[in-house]
Order: sequence, then structure tokens, then C-alpha cells
Amino acid sequence: MQPRRMILVCQNERAAGKESCRPSGGDALLAAFKLALKERGLKGALRAVGTSCLGQCAGGPHCVVWPEGVWYRGLQAADVAEIVEQHLVGGRPVERLRAPAPPPESLQAE
Ligand code: FES
Repeated sequence: MQPRRMILVCQNERAAGKESCRPSGGDALLAAFKLALKERGLKGALRAVGTSCLGQCAGGPHCVVWPEGVWYRGLQAADVAEIVEQHLVGGRPVERLRAPAPPPESLQAE
């Protein structure tokens, strides 16, 4: 089954001294999404995928729910259950954790 939606979670690690997603918890966030989707029985329709830099970097980890283009930043593993239930199942993005969609010209990977 092809997934209808994906959660793209940045796994990039920039040079020492530069803020980036993986050292900010991106790896634990991706693992938490994968586990939550599996436990919730959503693995076929939804997929959590690690990506390279999403072009935002500071304030991460950054992730985007695709194809609707809802961005979140600064999520931690403890936020995943709320995102899954309210947004991915319920259809309502979690506004308190949401980030504004970046302008297309800012989506240059570093
Ligand atoms: S390091 Fe994650 S958006 Fe650039």
C-alpha cells in the first residue's frame, strides 16, 4: 500500500557550532513517529521518513506533514502522540506546536 501522507522529519546534522535538527532530537522524533504509527495501526496510510535538510535548521527539529504542507518545529518525542491523534487522525493541526510554512525560496538545504 502506498502511503497517502508522509511525515518528513529532518535528520540533518550541520557542521559543529551550527544549529541543526538531528542533534536537537530529530533522530528520537523520527523513531517516535515510526513507533506511534505502528502502534496506532496507521503504518500503511502514513509513513514517517527521515530527510536531509529542510532549509530551516534553527529551532528544530523540523518536520512537515506532506502533502498538506503543515510544518512543525521544536517537536520532541513527547509531542508525537498529540500530533498523531489530533492532526494525523483527527485532521486538526496542533496549533501550539505548528510553525508557519516557510517561503519557497527559504527551502535551500544546508
Ligand atoms: S538541519 Fe534540519 S532543516 Fe536544516
